[in-house]
Amino acid sequence: MMEKSRSVSSRKSRTVISKTPATQKKTGSKLIKSVDVSEPIDVLAEYRNQMICGNTVEVMRKLPAQSIDLIVTSPPYNLKNSTGNGMKDGRGGKWSNAGLLNGYANYDDCMPHDEYVLWQRECLTEMMRVLKDDGAIFYNHKWRVQGGLLQDRNDIVDGFPVRQIIIWRRKGGINFNKGYFLPTYEVIYLIAKPKFVLAPKANSYGDIWEFTQELNNPHPAPFPVDLIERIITSTNAKIVLDPFMGSGTTAVAAKIQSRDFIGIEISPDYCEMAKARIDGREWQDPNSELQ
Ligand SMILES: C[S@@+](CC[C@H](N)C(=O)[O-])C[C@H]1O[C@@H](n2cnc3c(N)ncnc32)[C@H](O)[C@@H]1O
Repeated sequence: MMEKSRSVSSRKSRTVISKTPATQKKTGSKLIKSVDVSEPIDVLAEYRNQMICGNTVEVMRKLPAQSIDLIVTSPPYNLKNSTGNGMKDGRGGKWSNAGLLNGYANYDDCMPHDEYVLWQRECLTEMMRVLKDDGAIFYNHKWRVQGGLLQDRNDIVDGFPVRQIIIWRRKGGINFNKGYFLPTYEVIYLIAKPKFVLAPKANSYGDIWEFTQELNNPHPAPFPVDLIERIITSTNAKIVLDPFMGSGTTAVAAKIQSRDFIGIEISPDYCEMAKARIDGREWQDPNSELQ
């Protein structure tokens, strides 16, 4: 876990010793000139374009308030906490290509539901704190049926300023489950502060987005890079935070689009993988170390 201190200030004025005769005042034996050093100080300097390996709420608490333009993230879905056909107890359920069967490298994705909801609300609260007044969060999640009832995640997002729901239609997948149609969609909540506006022309996209599932990434639940590029280019953001960075997809997309990023991830294996991807190095499959 990376512990970092921070220094937060925006602009400052300082007095400097000047050798220039213009506007000089004589005070004692020194010539003093008062100069307004008005270049902005980068409050995120120590975090900019960094992968931070740590617990997301603890790390976010260190980021200055209202410093981030855009947050794009997919939290763990708590999929191991399932009533049956999901991935309960590591049995894998009945779904084919259940990438999360082995879970994440350092997180078991199996909290009691109420605890999970409280945790996610705590995460969203911290995201809202660090977001600028014209910023937005694209929060990816999955609806599911549990015990015959729809878990539409309203318990997580209730009270946050949800502006729109985008359906991500995931192309691809094979179904060996005789009782269910192949699940093909996830949701992306656009949670926006009041002054958030889309980039020019982005409002011509519909609210159903089709992007093929990422297949060449050993992380169990990666975003497709082009999905994140769609989100980033739909905004005017200069700096993008992903508090659950996983294999680094949000950073890779931000870099392609010449934006800055900050990534937070609890697993040292995924952090390593993300750093390698961001730097364009070969990455090692973290799963190979799990077995
Ligand atoms: C759905 S995955 C994100 C995958 C990512 N979008 C990608 O493209 O690779 C969720 C990630 O959250 C991480 N995670 C779980 N608990 C965490 C915590 N408390 N703090 C930070 N990261 C955490 C998991 O290790 C996992 O990599």
